[in-house]
Amino acid sequence: MSDDRPNSRLPGFYRAPLDERRAELARQAGLAPEELPLFTSGGISPADADRIVENVVGVYALPLGLGLNFRINGVDRLIPMAVEEPSVIAAASNAARMARAGGGFQAEADESIMIAQVELRDVADATAASAAIETARAEIMQKADAAFPPLLQFGGGCRDVVVRALSNQRLVVHLHVDCRDAMGANMVNTMAEALAPRLAELAHGRVGLRILSNLADQRVVRATTRVPFSALAGGASPDQATVAGAALAQAIEEASRFAEDDPYRAATHNKGIMNGVDPVVIATGNDWRSIEAGAHAYAARDGQYRPLAIWRVEDGALTGRLEMPMALGTVGGTLVVHPGARLALRILGISRSRELAEVIASVGLAQNLAALKALAGEGIQRGHMALHRRAVGEK
Ligand code: MEV
Repeated sequence: MSDDRPNSRLPGFYRAPLDERRAELARQAGLAPEELPLFTSGGISPADADRIVENVVGVYALPLGLGLNFRINGVDRLIPMAVEEPSVIAAASNAARMARAGGGFQAEADESIMIAQVELRDVADATAASAAIETARAEIMQKADAAFPPLLQFGGGCRDVVVRALSNQRLVVHLHVDCRDAMGANMVNTMAEALAPRLAELAHGRVGLRILSNLADQRVVRATTRVPFSALAGGASPDQATVAGAALAQAIEEASRFAEDDPYRAATHNKGIMNGVDPVVIATGNDWRSIEAGAHAYAARDGQYRPLAIWRVEDGALTGRLEMPMALGTVGGTLVVHPGARLALRILGISRSRELAEVIASVGLAQNLAALKALAGEGIQRGHMALHRRAVGEK
């Protein structure tokens, strides 16, 4: 990262030739020229790939583009997005430009609390077993920390023990663990396995499964944006743009309410959000299946599948709010072995997992705005088909 923060507002970037775009990226993000060829090979060599998974025969790459115009919590960010779908990056950048007119995005992530589940079967008396585990809370938390000592050095560790009875015979014990800047799957799985025998002893039951939960509802991120009407639509005069923007904002609220009332629409609405979320999760070497699983489980947490973001016309502007789990790492995991993922984090200028969550939630909200604006207005096919024709080389 250069001393100066990058400027994410780069008009004409999309029209510049590839090598000029790369030079601009290097300038903005303070990268050395020799670092960029990394992206020519998909950010990872076959030898690196061979260290990550099994039976490696090569490397599979995706297009990597930059989402532009993002200002998040007052800071400009260039957003690396790895995605195969045309129009996603352009749409996110467009929406971020509209949001920028109202100050951009505000986002806040919870502490990095992951949940480890220990299932206890054939418990004789669920009430007595729960009470025994509650009484041993301090001992359990201390044993959990002892199972993964390095986490304490980084200020993390077990924060809570929660007992849930699924039936009279089956309990689930949740360990809430602050994983700091790690995604934390390995840490909490280690803790769950280490603690399970003691928990079974306390409960007079048998050990069942010991694994993290991807419903990471203790690690939620919230993003909001307030888009002025005049930024939503063009017009011959500022007044006309405001009138057209107000009508569009109303139509976007109606599109949001459709998703709020109908799970069939909510699934597609949320797919549009994941169009923004997944490319950044992938570019930064994170586990997108875990983010997807958490997102959809969270969307259905009260029994009805609901939208992860909603939109309202409020106080003369369009306001969007997104809330979803975001279990991400900026250390460990794939990042150790994937130079391209590490470079993506440097482009973002991010070292903390919570900051990355705030950025990704904002990109998801921008993507949702872009989709709803197109759907509420001219429909998505016109823009989509133009970009598709470009991709297949038609004029
Ligand atoms: C297409 O990839 C995503 C959209 O269907 C999302 C939406 O309908 O909100 C356009």
